[in-house]
Amino acid sequence: MVNVLIIYDSKTGNTASMASAIAEGARSEGAETTVHKLGEKFPMEELSRADAILVGSPTHYSSTTSEMRHFLESVHELGKARKLNLKGKRGAGFGSYGWSGEALERITGALKVLGLVVKSPALKIVESPGENDLAKCREFGKEVTRAALTKAKK
Ligand SMILES: Cc1cc2nc3c(=O)[nH]c(=O)nc-3n(C[C@H](O)[C@H](O)[C@H](O)COP(=O)(O)O)c2cc1C
Repeated sequence: MVNVLIIYDSKTGNTASMASAIAEGARSEGAETTVHKLGEKFPMEELSRADAILVGSPTHYSSTTSEMRHFLESVHELGKARKLNLKGKRGAGFGSYGWSGEALERITGALKVLGLVVKSPALKIVESPGENDLAKCREFGKEVTRAALTKAKK
């Protein structure tokens, strides 16, 4: 079974709705799926155990939220100190945005620097996701799970 970890930030619930729909998609493909919102306490070992890590944030002032920036920096520091090795895991970004959506490029860039393999383009939704958007989120969760499964079988 593949293990999919979803970590996100959200201030008004839009990226949170995306995270739930992505998790639903991943579970429907048989993945063991864990979802954490930043601010919750969780052990960093969960990142080591995951086969795929999906990171979500709304765009705030042309970047991720400051909480997400701090989280990505902490992961980077742990990597540099050789306390965490995420190389070769599947990664992807997602998030809701208002008009420019730079958080998604930031997340994708950060995941690549951490050594994750990012094949799917980040999933971006404008403001509150509608039914079609939620369907895209579920499909995104399925796609990443299938990719992680293929890799796990190799
Ligand atoms: C303080 C603040 C700054 C924002 N800055 C941007 C921005 O630079 N670019 C953009 O596309 N959207 C921006 N937005 C819009 C949010 O990304 C958008 O409302 C998003 O749906 C919020 O997602 P959430 O409900 O997950 O918090 C900003 C919103 C807030 C509250």
